[in-house]
Amino acid sequence: MNRRLGNEITVQWQAPVTELVAGLIRHPKTISSKFLYDETGSRLFEDITRLPEYYQTRTETEILRSSVDTLRLFFDRPTTLVELGSGSSTKTKILLDEMNAIKAYVPIDISTDFLMETVRKLSQDYPHIDMAGVSADYTKSFEIPKLDTERTVVFFPGSTIGNFEPAAAVDFLCHIRTHLSNGDLLIIGVDRKKERLIIEAAYNDSSGVTSAFNKNLLTRINREYGCRIDETTFEHVSFYNDKAGRIEMHLQSMIDQTVELAGEIITFEEGETIHTENSYKFDMNDIETMSVKSGLQLKRVISDELNYFSVCIMEVVHQ
Ligand code: AVI
Repeated sequence: MNRRLGNEITVQWQAPVTELVAGLIRHPKTISSKFLYDETGSRLFEDITRLPEYYQTRTETEILRSSVDTLRLFFDRPTTLVELGSGSSTKTKILLDEMNAIKAYVPIDISTDFLMETVRKLSQDYPHIDMAGVSADYTKSFEIPKLDTERTVVFFPGSTIGNFEPAAAVDFLCHIRTHLSNGDLLIIGVDRKKERLIIEAAYNDSSGVTSAFNKNLLTRINREYGCRIDETTFEHVSFYNDKAGRIEMHLQSMIDQTVELAGEIITFEEGETIHTENSYKFDMNDIETMSVKSGLQLKRVISDELNYFSVCIMEVVHQ
């Protein structure tokens, strides 16, 4: 390696209030799902990944564990692993443990605190792997530190790609591609389309963690912008929109009310919602379409027996 990264953290993002206000004064009201992930939100999401109803994480982890031999075929030269979102170190560790070709690890995450903790913990367990965290909104612009390895593999697990609108997912993958060279890879986890009841249970868990995760967004706005939104007047609502092929998550006001944010008065009618997240689900056709439109070559789709989840390997081929 030419350059040691020294486990540094570079902060490239902060929540802009103008974006929040713009989303709340329009109808229907929306807040980008990236606001869900402050330190508490990231921890609550970690709790979600351990819920019995949230099959996604354990299924993807199992797919990775049981397919290390297949994955090794794609880790055949000194590699920098770039992870978008440093949420689940369990999945990362499978790759760091099993793929000897990984010489450097660069997690990029919006939550600086969570990122610092991830890099601190992982750099202790893997002192031989060069590490640097980048705190950034990876949906916008970010820099991948240039390292002296032969291949970059971008790991984007957890079906976070499903939190983008389909056209935005394609734009995003095209943007990632511009950071990469011929032969570089993307490993993307996608949640598959399946029976509605199974999907809806995953976003309406019986212990109320997803509800707390959704409502934390209001707590965050109160704390960061000196607002006084009463979280107890909002309810977590989540359902599968069959036509759009996505889970929708909303915060529904149970009363008529007004709140003030950055000098703007925002009015809620009883029953009005803030749309806080979409989580698209994929069939094989959706996966193929996304890779073709992104100019990526779909090399392999690895799924569990029930086809609940898939890990897709795509290769960068610049024309
Ligand atoms: C991060 N993302 C893939 C999760 C999902 O399933 O869409 C976020 C989440 N929202 C509610 N539960 C989990």
